[in-house]
Amino acid sequence: MSKPVTGRLQAATVATGETHRRWLLQRHPEGTPVLDDFIYVEDLVPQPPPGKMLVRALWLSLDPFQRLTWNATPRNVELTPLYGPLAGDIVGEVIVSNHPDFEVGDVVNELLGWQSHAISDGRGHYIHCPEGARKVDPTLGPISTACHVLGRTGLTVYFSIVRELRPRPGETMLISTAAGAVGSLAVQVAKILDCHVVGLTSTDEKCRWVTEVLGADAAINYKNVDNLAEAIRAAAPKGVHMFYDNVGGPIAEAAGQNLTDDARITRVGIASQYSTVRADGTPWVYPVDQPMFYVHDYYTEHAEGLAAIAEWLQQGRLKYYEDIIEGLDNAMSGWLDMMAGGNRGKRLVRVAEPTQV
Ligand SMILES: NC(=O)c1ccc[n+]([C@@H]2O[C@H](COP(=O)([O-])OP(=O)(O)OC[C@H]3O[C@@H](n4cnc5c(N)ncnc54)[C@H](OP(=O)(O)O)[C@@H]3O)[C@@H](O)[C@H]2O)c1
Repeated sequence: MSKPVTGRLQAATVATGETHRRWLLQRHPEGTPVLDDFIYVEDLVPQPPPGKMLVRALWLSLDPFQRLTWNATPRNVELTPLYGPLAGDIVGEVIVSNHPDFEVGDVVNELLGWQSHAISDGRGHYIHCPEGARKVDPTLGPISTACHVLGRTGLTVYFSIVRELRPRPGETMLISTAAGAVGSLAVQVAKILDCHVVGLTSTDEKCRWVTEVLGADAAINYKNVDNLAEAIRAAAPKGVHMFYDNVGGPIAEAAGQNLTDDARITRVGIASQYSTVRADGTPWVYPVDQPMFYVHDYYTEHAEGLAAIAEWLQQGRLKYYEDIIEGLDNAMSGWLDMMAGGNRGKRLVRVAEPTQV
């Protein structure tokens, strides 16, 4: 892909009167990404050829895994080539349709990237979005929730707990990044299933939120203890029956010292390790002893998971928390801040207000 012209172009699109704004990968980051690894460009809104539709993004999900898609390995380059838009999950409205299955006004959820408008054939991506474009049902909740609790985040929590950890009442579940998007839902689902819940997060203020608002029995500020393994032991005196691992690395090692003999682990993510891979994609530190949970392994059963989550929401037993960044131009600083622990709940970007819904 050739290097795009940066800066604002004078012409606007005939169809919408809007410009096409995108975050592009300018170089593969070494370690922790910096703003200069990316560029934000503006050009003409594309028009969909026959069989495709034009989607106007309303919400963009910021996700830790996106860091991996900025590496130079073949699979990542396919998702996010240099000077291609960054991969990202969006909720948007169809504003032009030449697609037989979608109409103008439909609200869809698909992996369409960090951009204000995207052309879609509705087929998704074979690894990261195998179910393709999903029509969002606005009667289930605000459409933004299709990017989290009524989307991949909620499904991750449902299947990793209900299918993989299979909690028994009274067991202790230890949850890392307990104040994050996945973690905040995992804490509540574990409480719904009568577990003793211990959360880990990075500040005292987030710890208070995890116990007082989310309902965990205890929370540990992992940055403020001399010996994390001992702190976990004190909060989980019967041992850790289930470890909900969102970070890997040293936190997972400390958890590992407290597991019961028959403990179960779900390795949902390794957020502490994503920036430890070199730009060519080879890892410096990468746990290989435990298979990763992958929400798309369950995609044929997503309807079951969504129904269960929708019911918990309706009953008021499960609540979601949105941490909103305003404007696509602020998306990258919002992502960097999220990875530094700046979020509580699901970090989302409000890209635009809806026109059709
Ligand atoms: N397997 C799947 O299918 C699947 C699907 C969705 C998400 N995930 C994974 O689930 C995990 C959570 O994702 P999310 O969307 O809910 O993000 P999140 O937890 O809302 O945000 C990322 C959090 O990671 C923590 N963090 C960042 N660097 C860290 C480090 N070096 N050490 C410890 N903690 C660090 C920070 O929390 P603290 O302030 O607590 O440190 C930060 O708030 C990620 O690993 C993600 O990749 C997996």
